[in-house]
Amino acid sequence: MYVCLCKGITDSQLRAAIADGGSEFKRLKKELAVGSQCGKCVPVAMAILAEENAKAGLYYEVA
Ligand code: FES
Repeated sequence: MYVCLCKGITDSQLRAAIADGGSEFKRLKKELAVGSQCGKCVPVAMAILAEENAKAGLYYEVA
């Protein structure tokens, strides 16, 4: 499914980038440009990031 409509980024692309070492949102934003336009996708992207980090045993605090 599409997470970021502005940039055409899917959850699969996001999960792949996270698996490739993108455990911080700022890195995902830099690499994929997720959340860089309207920002409406940020909460969903952050939830996916938290879910993937939890699966990997990492903890990511949402400020
Ligand atoms: Fe992601 Fe607009 S939906 S920046």
